[in-house]
Amino acid sequence: MLTVINHPLIRHKLTIMRNKNTGTKDFRQNLDEIGGLMVYEVTRDLPTRDIQIETPMAPYVGQELAKKVVIMPILRAGLGMVSGIMDLIPTAQVAHVGMFRNEETLQPQVYFEKYPKDFPESEVIIVDPMLATGGSSIAAIDMAKAHGAQSIRLVCLVGAPEGVNAVEKAHPDVHLYLAALDERLNEHGYIIPGLGDAGDRIFGTK
Ligand code: PRP
Ligand code: URA
Repeated sequence: MLTVINHPLIRHKLTIMRNKNTGTKDFRQNLDEIGGLMVYEVTRDLPTRDIQIETPMAPYVGQELAKKVVIMPILRAGLGMVSGIMDLIPTAQVAHVGMFRNEETLQPQVYFEKYPKDFPESEVIIVDPMLATGGSSIAAIDMAKAHGAQSIRLVCLVGAPEGVNAVEKAHPDVHLYLAALDERLNEHGYIIPGLGDAGDRIFGTK
């Protein structure tokens, strides 16, 4: 299932990120802020359970999150979305998966993976700003499932229709959230209009 989170603040901040004249500092800051804004919608249906507490005035049955939350950035660019989400879910743990696209084949090459202990029982939120062909996101979901994840959400900033279709076909059980659904991929597998190479713009590399 695809949800495009349409909010004026997200549209405003994403336009700043798309602008080729926006530098690394502002690019990173707006990515972080959009990650925080998206998390409200992404976590809307997280399960909760009752918990008995005492307010200063009376006994009270409140709620707490029923499961741990693991944020799983796809390195490198996914790292840029972690702190904005952690601000709202400070108890979240972080799983890391590292991969880069081979520039000719566009296939993801995995170079790193590390998971917290309670990963299989947790709500897993995979984050990556860019969903282009979908190869990297599909590989990350494959890896999360291979490590026992039962409940996975995928959060990207900008997606191409090709990537959305590929993820929905490979993993129909994963709810995909985007801040924007763009037009298409170009012949080099870059999203149009997109925002360029997210990893390079976050980290100031080329
Ligand atoms: C980018 C982006 C995604 C991937 C999307 O990463 O952050 O992970 O490409 O493309 P796909 O949907 O076609 O797989 P990149 O390979 O540039 O690595 P980086 O994050 O280290 O810059
Ligand atoms: N990765 C990016 O960083 N940008 C794109 O447009 C496609 C893949």
